[in-house]
Amino acid sequence: MLGPVILAASRSDRMRRLISAAPVTKQVVDRFIPGETVDNVLPIVRDLTARGLELTMDVVGEDITTREQAAAARDAYLELIDRLKALELGEKVEMSVKLSMFGQALEGGHELALANVRPVVEAAAEIGTTVTLDAEDHTTLDSMFAIHDELRRDFPQTGCVIQAYLFRTEADARRLAANGSRVRLVKGAYKEPAEVAYQQKHEIDKAYVRILRTLMEGEGYPMVGSHDPRLISIAQEMARHAGRKLDEYEFQMLYGIRSEEHLRLAAEGHRMRVYTAYGTDWYGYFMRRLAEKPANLRFFARSMITK
Ligand code: FDA
Repeated sequence: MLGPVILAASRSDRMRRLISAAPVTKQVVDRFIPGETVDNVLPIVRDLTARGLELTMDVVGEDITTREQAAAARDAYLELIDRLKALELGEKVEMSVKLSMFGQALEGGHELALANVRPVVEAAAEIGTTVTLDAEDHTTLDSMFAIHDELRRDFPQTGCVIQAYLFRTEADARRLAANGSRVRLVKGAYKEPAEVAYQQKHEIDKAYVRILRTLMEGEGYPMVGSHDPRLISIAQEMARHAGRKLDEYEFQMLYGIRSEEHLRLAAEGHRMRVYTAYGTDWYGYFMRRLAEKPANLRFFARSMITK
């Protein structure tokens, strides 16, 4: 029952101030968010790619409140892409973006987010890679899918994320699988009401399997975003059954979670992409990671008490 409470706190400004200021927070945060600047994170990019892993980069931040912050978010991604150019890693390092960070919730936000994300997609294409649009809470998704369709006209490799916990997702998956899209399937990390989303873990897992089958049997490129060992073996089995070669789908996991498994899958010849977040506005991302696993919260609470 702790998960929903932590997710509610992830949207509270008071909690944000409290937790961000706690001196011990940083060492716990570092497990999931390995740096605040491009300079911090580039050595990690080099290290992980040298070990046969691929990456998707997230400059953390969401729910910004001004157009200037949205422009700054766009510029942070442009700086990252500019710095990645010299590494010549191409599609081994792609970007993940949250449209709320690009101004989606502001007045005229749909157009603003599209205008801010387009140059990022263009810059990514120039260095031979692409962008995936993360899925945020359900109220943002019609706009996200419309922006995804719009970007795909010029950049068909642009990906998007779908969340198994939402009732709408089976229909979204059929549409995306038929139009050949790159799609990351995840369970879903936000607090969603029972009118729009499954609440029980076993229902979410069953939905995940149904949607995964649609993606694996479709025309697109499935990206299996999960750390769940059972779903990973089901995905391998489904891919074989659908006749997909090892480079016709990929696994994705978050930096700092089941790292040995990243290397094991890569060693088996799978494409394994590590979602690597960095930056200073880490609060929302960090709180969702705490909500996913109560043991993380216990570790965090213990370090607050013992320091
Ligand atoms: P589950 O939560 O059942 O975890 C399976 C096992 O993995 C656990 O038993 C534990 O061992 C380990 N584990 C999982 N989470 C952990 C954690 N935080 N700390 C420690 N261990 C943990 N969501 C969203 O709504 N929109 C998005 O755009 C994305 N993007 C995204 C990208 C990628 C690459 C991944 C892997 C995930 C996301 N997510 C996301 C998050 C996703 O919705 C989900 O909350 C987490 O992946 C946890 O679900 P699992 O599928 O890992 O299963």
